[in-house]
Amino acid sequence: MSDRFTDKTVLVTGAGSGIGREMARQFLAEGARVFAADLNPDGVPDGAVGVLVDVTDPQSVEAAVARAVDESGRLDVLCNNAGASSTSDPVNCTVEDWDRTFAVNARGVFLGTKFALPTMLAQGSGAIVNTASAAGLVGLKDRAAYCASKGAVISFTKAVAVQYAGTGVRANCICPGTVDSPWVARLLSNADDPTSARADLVSRQPMGRLGTPTEVAAAALYLASEDAAFITGTELVIDGGLVAG
Ligand SMILES: NC(=O)c1ccc[n+]([C@@H]2O[C@H](COP(=O)([O-])OP(=O)(O)OC[C@H]3O[C@@H](n4cnc5c(N)ncnc54)[C@H](O)[C@@H]3O)[C@@H](O)[C@H]2O)c1
Repeated sequence: MSDRFTDKTVLVTGAGSGIGREMARQFLAEGARVFAADLNPDGVPDGAVGVLVDVTDPQSVEAAVARAVDESGRLDVLCNNAGASSTSDPVNCTVEDWDRTFAVNARGVFLGTKFALPTMLAQGSGAIVNTASAAGLVGLKDRAAYCASKGAVISFTKAVAVQYAGTGVRANCICPGTVDSPWVARLLSNADDPTSARADLVSRQPMGRLGTPTEVAAAALYLASEDAAFITGTELVIDGGLVAG
């Protein structure tokens, strides 16, 4: 068992389910103090400090960051991971759906970063890992607002990386492909034929399977760790070859 995060303080959003929950679990296993924030913190892993947060709300995000910093005196890693789906084409996407998708996926990442940076800059160290998506790199049908919002996450990550390169603070993002999390289970349960919808998802995968939250979280921990000390502003794709084709 590796212990890359002993004595480190980590804040993960969207840590009540799926990929974020697995990130929190892996950081705990490697010795970190983990503040696991979510709209529904009931599902955060044992050993983490559960924090109620709405990443769309500036006061809520500021309070979540302050709680981690006040209770541990530092903030070493921020994983802006909470996200919302949107399954519309550009014509049928409502303005409300567009704004809600951007509020969670793009504003949420901005707010976490904005409130974490002063502490990280004062420390002279810190790693921000944002959960974007393969959908931020390629166009997908019926994902207009989702693709655009995840593209914004990638661009914002690069802007932060360049702004603070050389300060000890790094910013990177991960771009998962289709991952077997409660998110995908929800999407499939809304399909007319969930079994064939799942088979469709699997058939577009060059590796012939979906990813796992464990595999995606491992990539986030790598970017957050000193193993990635020379990496800032990158988008690490974890998708079984989906966007390579
Ligand atoms: N599952 C996939 O196939 C996939 C692929 C690419 C990217 N992603 C991204 O990975 C991230 C995590 O997704 P997941 O698959 O683990 O989904 P999930 O539904 O299992 O978990 C998402 C979590 O985010 C929380 N959340 C949603 N809105 C929030 C808000 N306003 N404030 C605080 N928390 C909020 C939810 O309560 C939930 O616990 C998301 O950003 C998603 O866009 C997922």
